[in-house]
Amino acid sequence: MTEPKNTPRLYDDLASWWPLLSTPEDYAEETAIYRKTIVSASSIYPQTLLELGSGGGNNASHLKVHFTITLVDISNGMLTVSRSLNPECEHIQGDMRDVRLNRLFDAVFIHDAIVYMTTEKDLRSAIETAAVHCEPGGVCLFCPDHIRETFRPSTGHGGHDGADRSMRYLEWTWDPDPTDTTYITDFAYLLRDDTGVRCEHDRHHTGLFGRNDWLRFITEAGLRAQSIPFELSTLEPGTTEIFLGVKSIADKDSNSL
Ligand SMILES: C[S@@+](CC[C@H](N)C(=O)[O-])C[C@H]1O[C@@H](n2cnc3c(N)ncnc32)[C@H](O)[C@@H]1O
Repeated sequence: MTEPKNTPRLYDDLASWWPLLSTPEDYAEETAIYRKTIVSASSIYPQTLLELGSGGGNNASHLKVHFTITLVDISNGMLTVSRSLNPECEHIQGDMRDVRLNRLFDAVFIHDAIVYMTTEKDLRSAIETAAVHCEPGGVCLFCPDHIRETFRPSTGHGGHDGADRSMRYLEWTWDPDPTDTTYITDFAYLLRDDTGVRCEHDRHHTGLFGRNDWLRFITEAGLRAQSIPFELSTLEPGTTEIFLGVKSIADKDSNSL
C-alpha cells in the first residue's frame, strides 16, 4: 500500500491529539443529515455501512446506533483513536484508492477524507472503491469540504480541553493556484501538556473539483449521480454540496466483486 504524498502530521505523529481538535459532539447535527440522506435515497433498508477515511471515528460514534459499521483508514494512529471511541466497530487499515474487502455494504460513506484525493485519478479511484463495495439498491455518499464553484479562502479556530492535555488551533484555507485541482489548509496547533505549550505547523494538501467533474466521475463508476445542497447551522447557506451515487437495484444480478 502506498502512503499518500505529504501525509498531514495530524494523521501521523500528532494523531493522538485528534480528539482535542475535533470531538464527537461537533458531528451530531451533520451525521443526522447524512443518515437521512442515505436512508431516503436507498431502495433497500440500509443496515450495513462502510466508511472510507473514517479518521478518529467521530461520524461513526453517532451512526453506529443505526448501522453495523466497518471503518477503513490509511493511518494506524487514527485507527487507534477510533478503536478507543468505537470498540464495537470493525476497523481495517486500507487506502480508499485501492482497498478491496470482497464484500458488499448497503451504504458506503466518504466524509471529509475525500478531500485528500488531490488528482482526478485518485478521486476516480476512491469513487470506484465506494461503487464496488455498494450493494445494488444502496447508495454511496461523498462529502467534500469544498467544490470549485463555491470555494472561498477562509480562516477558523477551535480546540478542546482533555483530562491532562489541551489544544487550540488556527486553520487557514487558501488556494495558491486556482487553475489546478488542489488547495491548501495550513494549521498552527498550540499543544499544552505537563511539559508546557508548544506550537506545530501542519500543511494539508487537499483536492478541489467542480460539480460537473464530481457528477461525471460518479456516473462513470456506474452510479446514478446527484448533487445535494448541504445546509448546516454552522455553514453559510449555498456554500457546500454533497454528492450521492445511487446503485441501481437492477445491478443485483450483474454485480461482481
Ligand atoms: C479529517 S479525518 C476524518 C475524520 C472523520 N470524518 C471522523 O468522523 O472522525 C481524514 C482522514 O482521512 C484519512 N485518509 C487520508 N487519505 C486516505 C486514503 N487514501 N485512504 C484512507 N484514508 C485516508 C486520514 O488518515 C484521516 O484519518
